[in-house]
Amino acid sequence: MKKMSFVLILSAVLILMVSASTVLSAKPVLKVGTSADFPPFEFQDEKTGAYLGFDIDLIKAIGAEAGMEVKIVNTAWDGLIPGLLTGNYDCIMSAMTITDERLGSVAFSDPYFSASQVIVTRSDDSSIKTVEDLVGKEISVQIGTTGDIEASEIEGATIKRFNLAPDAIQEVRNKGVAACVIDFSVAEEISKQYTDIKFGEPFTEEYYGIAINKNNVELLNKINEALASVKASGKYDMIFEDWFSIN
Ligand code: ARG
Repeated sequence: MKKMSFVLILSAVLILMVSASTVLSAKPVLKVGTSADFPPFEFQDEKTGAYLGFDIDLIKAIGAEAGMEVKIVNTAWDGLIPGLLTGNYDCIMSAMTITDERLGSVAFSDPYFSASQVIVTRSDDSSIKTVEDLVGKEISVQIGTTGDIEASEIEGATIKRFNLAPDAIQEVRNKGVAACVIDFSVAEEISKQYTDIKFGEPFTEEYYGIAINKNNVELLNKINEALASVKASGKYDMIFEDWFSIN
């Protein structure tokens, strides 16, 4: 009987110790929504399924700085803002351009990357160089992106909208459209794999920001502080080098 209660007490103590230590060591989780179809910013390793890219490394560095553990939630691009507003995740890290329209529904961190749109065409097509050359043409875009917004303003153009960014570029190779309007670094990254497409000069000025729910001012401040530290410590430059060095 004595032995029995000793064992009981001992196991109770052990259980308490284990649960106390998990509570103490568990970092708060930062749930991050992303559309992992946008190399080199966010994409999945074909073999392991791991999330990789500049944005992924940067948000992990920001999380580490803020003492939070980052958990990636892969979500279709056009569902990202609705998902943030419903609370599926705490922020969006997805090469998302800060636009006035988006600022109507979400808050953005300080800008973390300067970007631009470019026109992707077939390599053997010398007729399209500028936006003016796209008048009346068929153009592919990722649905709801700034590329979509830019292309939709072109007179007489027919817009083919794709859920996934790589599919919009693929449509140029398939000769389904004359051109694709997409973010410069993504055009650059994807066209590395193919010789039959090329891209032109950047024609917009955009800045990526981390989108956060407007009522979560605490997180917005935390992320801005952590981003500033990651920049000041040289960590930002290291990550930039990893993904955008010319070598
Ligand atoms: N920068 C563009 C925008 O904000 C495209 C971003 C697309 N991001 C992605 N992960 N597919 O509209």
